[in-house]
Amino acid sequence: MKNITCIDDLRQLARRRVPRAFFDYADSGSYQEETLRANRGDLERIKLRQRILVDVSQRSLATTVIGQKLSSPMILAPVGLLGMQRGDGEILSANAANAAGIPFTLSTMSICSIEDVAEATRKPFWFQLYVIRDRDFSKDILARAVAAKCNALVLTVDLQVLGQRHRDIKNGMTVPPEIRIANVIDVATKPAWAWSVLNGRSKTFGNLAGHVKGMENVNELAKWVGEQFDPALSWKDVEWIKKIWPGKLILKGILDADDAKTAVKLGADAIVVSNHGGRQLDGAPSSISALPAIADAVGSDTEVLFDGGVRTGADIMRALALGARACMIGRAYVYGLGAGGQVGVAKAIDILEKELSVAMALTGTNRIADIDGRVLVGGAATKKAAKRKR
Ligand SMILES: Cc1cc2nc3c(=O)[nH]c(=O)nc-3n(C[C@H](O)[C@H](O)[C@H](O)COP(=O)(O)O)c2cc1C
Repeated sequence: MKNITCIDDLRQLARRRVPRAFFDYADSGSYQEETLRANRGDLERIKLRQRILVDVSQRSLATTVIGQKLSSPMILAPVGLLGMQRGDGEILSANAANAAGIPFTLSTMSICSIEDVAEATRKPFWFQLYVIRDRDFSKDILARAVAAKCNALVLTVDLQVLGQRHRDIKNGMTVPPEIRIANVIDVATKPAWAWSVLNGRSKTFGNLAGHVKGMENVNELAKWVGEQFDPALSWKDVEWIKKIWPGKLILKGILDADDAKTAVKLGADAIVVSNHGGRQLDGAPSSISALPAIADAVGSDTEVLFDGGVRTGADIMRALALGARACMIGRAYVYGLGAGGQVGVAKAIDILEKELSVAMALTGTNRIADIDGRVLVGGAATKKAAKRKR
């Protein structure tokens, strides 16, 4: 990965190496992609405050999140179908995260199953749950996550119905890929991808196959998934999950201070300020613009995590300055996976860490705990965000 110097290089390489339907699946947002663009645009508008002649020779990116030690304030976000970016993509990403000393979050909609990842990595990982209509399925899968020693549950609460991504429909994005002439030509020009996916442990939704009765056929399974998102989901379900999950609980997909307060009241150990990477409610505010008010509303007992648009180390610093404890990284590592498998994910993590380290140096910051509103031009956006203990 010699000439790769930034996340956008990984994106360009992934675009060449991954069939279009799966590259577009990762790259796109819902509807007009207004929120997708706002996630980036609003981050870029926040200016960092350059400071000089501070001794920054002893910098450290280490921090803790929900009591776990992290080498840097990053977590690999749950992303569906990683195994379609590269065969065994979930395992490759988990291995890269483990080597870097940060958590990997396995999506419910993964290609490799919980058991595949546990067996191949032999390290604890976080598990992300969608509560679907079939509540028995949720109960079973949580038992599987406990058996696999998953050390946190990320409950995603912003997908009661599915936002439409135009490109997925136009590309006929299905698992496994729909055989259309255009797809055949596309895949034929990407032999390394085809080889890796054909040799992967699983070619369907690994967590669902065999556990959904009478659904061994992949197309049936995909249809079942589509029908299973539950518009009736409510805070009562969060209470139920809290009762049956024995470990740390993180609620992901919060964009409103009132919702954040309810999450705290129900005992969430952490929340993720997120608009699902601009893939759900198009027209919703960017995650970064929603962060300060939520950080203010939440007391210091509940940790605030952030995602949406993080593509540089400076972005991580911006989010931390506005009250986040750490960032979930989405597309930045997915592009790395498509570009170069495990090495590509490791490269994405390394790029972000190095950029963050330089941003810390040039803002006169030595420790993650010292990043607050003072590193921003104009000072703290909110007083409480500046004071939040880390
Ligand atoms: C291709 C793709 C698939 C995703 N699948 C899931 C998922 O299965 N569960 C989930 O909670 N979030 C999912 N997300 C949202 C991410 O966890 C995260 O919130 C988002 O990617 C952050 O924005 P970013 O990609 O700009 O960093 C997905 C995102 C992408 C890009």
